[in-house]
Amino acid sequence: MDNKNTVTLINNSTGEKFEFNLIECTRGPKAIDFGKLFETTGIFSYDPGYASTAGCKSTVSYIDGQNGILLYRGIPIQDLVEKYSFTDICSLLISGKLPKDDKESKEFELDLRQLRYLNEGLIDIFKAFPDNAHPMANLSSAVGALSTFYRGYIEIGDDDDYEMMAKRMIAKIPTLVAFSYRHSIGYPYIYPDVSLSYVENFLLMLRAFPGGKLKYTLDGEVQIDPLEVEALDKIFTLHAEHGQNASTTTVRNVASTGVHPYAAISAGINALWGPSHGGANEKVLDQLAEIGNVKNVNKFIQRVKDKNDPFRLMGFGHRVYKNYDPRAKVLKKLKDDLAKKGIKINDRFSDIAEKVEEVALTDDYFIERKLYPNVDFYSGIILSALKIPVSLFTPIFAIGRMPGWCAHVIEHIKSGARITRPRQVYEGK
Ligand code: CMC
Repeated sequence: MDNKNTVTLINNSTGEKFEFNLIECTRGPKAIDFGKLFETTGIFSYDPGYASTAGCKSTVSYIDGQNGILLYRGIPIQDLVEKYSFTDICSLLISGKLPKDDKESKEFELDLRQLRYLNEGLIDIFKAFPDNAHPMANLSSAVGALSTFYRGYIEIGDDDDYEMMAKRMIAKIPTLVAFSYRHSIGYPYIYPDVSLSYVENFLLMLRAFPGGKLKYTLDGEVQIDPLEVEALDKIFTLHAEHGQNASTTTVRNVASTGVHPYAAISAGINALWGPSHGGANEKVLDQLAEIGNVKNVNKFIQRVKDKNDPFRLMGFGHRVYKNYDPRAKVLKKLKDDLAKKGIKINDRFSDIAEKVEEVALTDDYFIERKLYPNVDFYSGIILSALKIPVSLFTPIFAIGRMPGWCAHVIEHIKSGARITRPRQVYEGK
């Protein structure tokens, strides 16, 4: 073995030397193959939060955190968000390829349309939830319950099965989010409309009156604005995939036990809910409201920096990005573009957010720790402008992330990976 491709570990108390292979990758840092570390040395590695640990090999996405780069299947997200629809991105993440032409793109999208409906028995599940439940709790339960209707996927075997499993999930998740929301406000459910695109249909299910009609004014029925559709489509794309984030790792870990893929995805939805992860988008808006005025930003930032206060600036910081999150850059521009095109943005929140960013990016605390705005910082301002209720911000993240979770479930099962089973450093009696 060429010793450039190995590392040597020396146990300083015994003088023993152990050689480990370095795993080659197409981009980014190599990894030490520690799979047999315990077997050969009798010691474990300790890495709480897995900051330096790769738990799998993957081809789904690549992040260069130092340079703020994110690729889905090798393609920069800036290109994808400009040129392709969210359903094309789903096709890319699931099959590894973008649709080769309009026909293939349309066929994939039409397949999803026919799969939007829910079994009537599943719809009854929402009745069991109190109307003040958080939609993420309803959503993870409903996705878990989907596994009772598609039991066949427990023994998933061929590529068609994998694709159908993923398509069903991607098609039904907006319906589950919309039904969960309608239940929470006591409104009747609006069934999916196959004549509408992915995003139009989702907005219809959120907004329509019984019978499927939108609001009426003196000028007639208020149509869904194509600008809103385009913006939400881009938001879904920007959330579609992000390597081994907490929810995707949860999905892979749960899938490693051989459980139903929808049960694994249900677990991922729960992981996403937390404010350190996808739940941050909801909290960002709460913080902007709490700051209340541009004049209060400096005082607020002082509190965030206080080491004796666990309070954090939501929508800032990231385990991997030590530079501007490329998704946040696209979102900031999208917010400004929407305002120019006449979509009403909350100017007060937008001004406060930009001031927070300006103060933070010139403050030593943030500079030393390389804390930049992440994807959640500007998404809430845009979602509010699209009249999406705050309680749906994290469920919207879940709709966007669905193709990524499905792609990882498929990759994990196909890789034949062992069950996830880390060790612990025992400190008890
Ligand atoms: N505000 C203030 N200080 C922060 C922040 C923040 N948002 N984020 C990190 N820090 C400080 C932290 O206190 C620590 O300081 P010190 O070295 O003095 O102890 C240092 O920066 C490193 O932080 P860490 O907690 O070790 O970083 P992590 O990689 O474990 O956590 C994070 C990453 C995203 C959980 C964290 O940055 C955070 O809590 N951010 C706010 C919540 C948020 O916006 N989450 C969305 C993440 S992006 C979308 C997604 O994945 O869902």
